[in-house]
Amino acid sequence: MLNVPSQSFPAPSSQQRVASGGRSKVPLKQGRSLMDWIRLSKSGKDLTGLKGRLIDVTEEELKKHNKKEDCWICIRGFVYNVSSYMEFHPGGEDELMRAAGSDGTDLFDQVHRWVNYESMLKECLVGRMAVKPAIPKDYHEEKRVLNGLLPKSQMTDISTKEGPSSPSYDWFQTDSLVTIVIYTKQKDIHLDSIIIDHQNDSFRAETIIKDYSYLIHIGLSHEVQEDFSVRVVENVGKIEIVLKKTENISWKCLGHPLEKHNSLIPKKDTGLYYRKCQLISKEDITHDTKLFCLMLPPSTHLQVPIGQHVYLKLTITGTEIVKPYTPVFDSLLSEFKEPVLPNNKYIYFLIKIYPAGLFTPELDHLQIGDFVPVSNPEGNFKISKLQEVEDLFLLAAGTGFTPMVKILKYALINVPSLRKVKLMFFNKTEDDIIWRSQLEKLAFEDERFDVEYVLSAPTSEWKGKQGHISPALLSEFLNRSSEKSKVLLCICGPTPFTEQGIKLLHDLNFSKDEIHSFTA
Ligand SMILES: Cc1cc2nc3c(=O)[nH]c(=O)nc-3n(C[C@H](O)[C@H](O)[C@H](O)COP(=O)(O)OP(=O)(O)OC[C@H]3O[C@@H](n4cnc5c(N)ncnc54)[C@H](O)[C@@H]3O)c2cc1C
Ligand code: HEM
Repeated sequence: MLNVPSQSFPAPSSQQRVASGGRSKVPLKQGRSLMDWIRLSKSGKDLTGLKGRLIDVTEEELKKHNKKEDCWICIRGFVYNVSSYMEFHPGGEDELMRAAGSDGTDLFDQVHRWVNYESMLKECLVGRMAVKPAIPKDYHEEKRVLNGLLPKSQMTDISTKEGPSSPSYDWFQTDSLVTIVIYTKQKDIHLDSIIIDHQNDSFRAETIIKDYSYLIHIGLSHEVQEDFSVRVVENVGKIEIVLKKTENISWKCLGHPLEKHNSLIPKKDTGLYYRKCQLISKEDITHDTKLFCLMLPPSTHLQVPIGQHVYLKLTITGTEIVKPYTPVFDSLLSEFKEPVLPNNKYIYFLIKIYPAGLFTPELDHLQIGDFVPVSNPEGNFKISKLQEVEDLFLLAAGTGFTPMVKILKYALINVPSLRKVKLMFFNKTEDDIIWRSQLEKLAFEDERFDVEYVLSAPTSEWKGKQGHISPALLSEFLNRSSEKSKVLLCICGPTPFTEQGIKLLHDLNFSKDEIHSFTA
């Protein structure tokens, strides 16, 4: 869409975002799309060269396979022969080669830890790394865990200065209720800091404390009802989860520890947890963009923080594919509900359907009532960035509008210092503008808010701004309410748009701290 060479991938119309550090996808040869890879990997061809055998791989052996035509990579203890995937890798062959013949887990996680490599590379699996036998876990240590104290051994990678002080939990009961209390020992804990899922007897509560994740994961000793309540005492960082017993009997213990129970792990090292959400409705918003409404299970508590995204997962021709999407509100004009209603059960997405895309046509084919796995939220936008902001400038292209929805509404309602919010919305044609009438109504109702559209391929009747992001457009648009006003600029759109935008903003003397770009 924005000055991108026509043969490049993502295609000019694609909505891929810039990733941190300015990484971007490389052009792939014809016939090397993800769908082509899925076809090849399901073709029955021997992609490992081992005729279906799985082997234990020593470090010496792994090191030997470090060439493009013979390339093995280890991720989380499993070794894959990625030679045949090389040409299909959207990040390019050179990027993949950085991990050739070695353990690529850290590299992989730094770039795209959400990519579902297990499923995509199923047919490339060579085997496991040969490891020395693990020391059996002390059963008594496991048992002790349920008293809520965090053993030192489970506090991975925490420097006492930087990391949060060790959280703990406790539980108590009445005849009909069981209350689990989490002491985070942290003040800025809110309802969106805790994600709870309980299925059958498995209870999982993940608390986000700064850049760490504290997990309570228990097989409950007795049945509880589906619904529960959550309360956060913000000033002391205490979280109370009240479960309703199915039978009014006294519990002798809370249950038994499950995987990673009572551990505090850097957030980047936690796997993505998914729960199945039901498709409730699908509404046309523009000719190619739809508003999807998904319902969380009754036994889940999850609120996606402002500016963050989640991952949706679909199984396409037997391969699990994961793509990121940014939840929005159902409308720009409805009440700002989230902080008020703790158990908001619906998640809304504005999603552009690419007829030749892999994921979105599949999503579009889902029937009302079907289920889609939705991950925990991710993203590096911090609401504190909006504190005391006076001028908020939002630069969005296409569905790069989605993170702006919540930021815009939150700022108008919750930031008392705010004087001005301006949205510059880049699209190809008038028909592509998402929620145009709502944006105009909001601008009419709230004099602090203003929207300006820029079209790259307008009809001859279009009287507004035209073209692509440029110094002239930006310097006209970015007029502060006062010379020294506190300003925040948010930018989101296809890679070239975001990259160019950030460069232009720096040229206009906006500092790094004043700019937030959205990434996967
Ligand atoms: C953090 C984040 C948040 C996001 N939030 C949203 C959101 O809220 N809403 C939204 O709609 N999107 C969002 N996206 C984009 C989304 O994740 C997907 O990238 C998008 O939906 C496209 O998916 P797809 O699989 O259907 O298309 P893809 O298969 O990725 O294809 C996209 C386009 O590229 C073309 N193409 C595919 N393969 C090739 C190839 N090899 N060579 C040339 N062209 C090719 C296709 O024909 C199509 O036109 C977000 C992305 C990020 C990173
Ligand atoms: C371990 C070394 C690897 C490195 C350094 C690397 C790097 C990259 C880079 C730079 C990109 C493009 C930028 C981006 O989308 O964020 C990318 C995209 C991608 N990579 Fe890798 N990669 C590695 C391994 C793998 C492996 C093993 C897979 C296995 C399936 C994989 C699958 C993908 C996919 C699917 C994308 C596209 C993501 C999207 O849709 O946005 N990568 N990679």
